[in-house]
Amino acid sequence: MLSLLTPKQTILLVSLLSLSANAFANPLRPRLDNGLALTPPMGWNTYNHYSCSPNETIVHSNAQALVDLGLQAQGYHFVTVDCGWTLPDRLANGTMTWNSAIFPSGFPALGIFVHNLGLGFGVYSDAGIQMCMTGTPAQVGSLFHEQQDATTFASWGADLLKYDNCYSEASADYPNTDYSPSVSPSGRYQNMSSALLATDRPIVFQICEWGVDFPSAWAPALGNSWRVTNDIIPAYRTIPRILNQVVPQTSFAGPGHWLDLDMLEVGNNVLTIPEEQTHFSLWAILKSPLVIGAALKDTTTSINTESLNILLNEDVIGYNQDSLGVAASFRRRWTEEGYEVWAGDLSGSRMVVAVANLQNTARSLTLNLTDVGVQTVGSLKDIWNGVTASNVATAYTGHVEAHGTILLELSSFTAAPAASTPTFYSSASFTPAGDAVRTTCSTGLCTPVGSKISYISPTGTASLSITAASAGSKLVDVYFCNNDIALSTSWLYGTNTRNLTIAVNDVVTRIEVPLSGKSSELFSPGLGWQDTGIFKVLIGGWQEGANTVVIGNQGGAAGYQSYGADFVGMGIYS
Ligand SMILES: *[C@@H]1O[C@H](CO)[C@@H](O)[C@H](O)[C@H]1NC(C)=O
Ligand SMILES: *[C@@H]1O[C@H](CO)[C@@H](O)[C@H](O)[C@H]1NC(C)=O
Ligand SMILES: *[C@@H]1O[C@H](CO)[C@@H](O)[C@H](O)[C@H]1NC(C)=O
Ligand SMILES: *[C@@H]1O[C@H](CO)[C@@H](O)[C@H](O)[C@H]1NC(C)=O
Ligand SMILES: *[C@@H]1O[C@H](CO)[C@@H](O)[C@H](O)[C@H]1NC(C)=O
Repeated sequence: MLSLLTPKQTILLVSLLSLSANAFANPLRPRLDNGLALTPPMGWNTYNHYSCSPNETIVHSNAQALVDLGLQAQGYHFVTVDCGWTLPDRLANGTMTWNSAIFPSGFPALGIFVHNLGLGFGVYSDAGIQMCMTGTPAQVGSLFHEQQDATTFASWGADLLKYDNCYSEASADYPNTDYSPSVSPSGRYQNMSSALLATDRPIVFQICEWGVDFPSAWAPALGNSWRVTNDIIPAYRTIPRILNQVVPQTSFAGPGHWLDLDMLEVGNNVLTIPEEQTHFSLWAILKSPLVIGAALKDTTTSINTESLNILLNEDVIGYNQDSLGVAASFRRRWTEEGYEVWAGDLSGSRMVVAVANLQNTARSLTLNLTDVGVQTVGSLKDIWNGVTASNVATAYTGHVEAHGTILLELSSFTAAPAASTPTFYSSASFTPAGDAVRTTCSTGLCTPVGSKISYISPTGTASLSITAASAGSKLVDVYFCNNDIALSTSWLYGTNTRNLTIAVNDVVTRIEVPLSGKSSELFSPGLGWQDTGIFKVLIGGWQEGANTVVIGNQGGAAGYQSYGADFVGMGIYS
């Protein structure tokens, strides 16, 4: 890895200790230090609203609107022209150029226009032979022209490059998309990373290869952000789908290196206002780049006031731009109850907590402070409800709209007493039946057991008799593996989740677990299916004495995937 890096790159070895309750520590990793994006990049991009049809008028009016609407003053800085700006071919001398039919003044002039507004100029290219565009004409990409194009972009005054991944897989004769390339995309991104550094112009490098080959493992050495998932789509279901993929990766983020959850749909009138609040809250606290994808202002459209106010929320932007640079992590999900909790540390000994309502009905939800490691809170701010409270102990209850989020800032809090150590029951002591089989994992994987039970289905189970000292409900850590990534299914039904049921004396608790994969789904020894995640859940049905515990996927035939997650073990709190 180190030998791939140019001498100009300074490598920081940063210990990425796990901050997440459901993750194991990540190893030391090399990181690019170009001094840029010490907080997540913020800005505006043409794609989500205008697709691959940008033009000069659009970019001018939206850049001006960033200033006029007060968005620039809140930190939205980069104006990026996404796909559709160039031509099928390079100039005769090999230089890439703009389409002068839609950018009559040219890109150097566009750069000056953007800079004169005090904004940064973002350009877009692709690590393939053509850029991402369906339909014709195809437009030439940067593959094998990295240094030439980086030099051109720098000469136009570019401050940011978003670098896509279409038409890049040589072994398949360069199809539009290839989610299973024969070699890692990392080499192609390495070449552009080095080319940008060689220009001597500071250019934020946004890697956009849709999460193929687990870029969190290699992209921090090459760029300032990397897309973790396939594209966001203009529908609410895209939000839980993206979040379920990000769960095992949050500890890979840090100053200068951010998980990109994709551009915002806020203001595009495809989500309700509470859904937009959920989207914006989670993207902000996970430290994603905040890139507006709405039409702020053009000849026919302007952004609605409620969406604009979400984008302008100073508290939420403050969580995103917080100097500590810690991405919030997934803490708890109540599967049947339909809500989940994310939390992360902020500077000034503060914490931000999101309680997301996954159900499509308005209601009250209660945050159990223990679930974010807190006992009492001196001062609490409930952002979207506009409520403040002091001296909160044990729990906080707030109103939340359908698909909305309670977003809380906690200050002056005390830590909850450390939980007792759970008693661990390895899957190695469970008996598989039906479809279910025990699989041995590669060295060091399926932590802490080294094997797991796979093919858990409506007719495949793993069971064990467990003796309990008391009856009632017990808090349990379920150790699982799931790397069923919604890549090709991301536009349709893919959720990145798998179900499991835990039956204790026939009392059934269903959990829907997120991804746990923290290594390449294409080239790592376990293909990401041997990386363990931990899901904390309250399970009822226990009796004093012997209990029959059956791990299964009851009702799985009704889901879109009848196999459950793989099972590694369970830790039971007394
Ligand atoms: C730019 O795009 C807008 C929105 O699609 C369109 O209304 C306008 O005609 C376009 N202008 C040019 C010069 O292509
Ligand atoms: C190629 O030609 C264009 C247009 O004349 C010019 O702007 C550019 O600098 C040239 N590139 C090189 C590498 O000479
Ligand atoms: C990276 O650039 C080098 C030098 O131009 C080239 O030989 C190599 O093929 C490139 N790697 C990829 C993966 O494109
Ligand atoms: C809060 O969580 C703790 C630890 O999981 C548990 O003991 C307690 O019963 C919970 N309280 C409520 C109100 O759910
Ligand atoms: C999990 O179970 C629920 C309830 O039956 C179902 O709606 C969902 O589709 C299932 N998830 C998967 C991944 O099959």
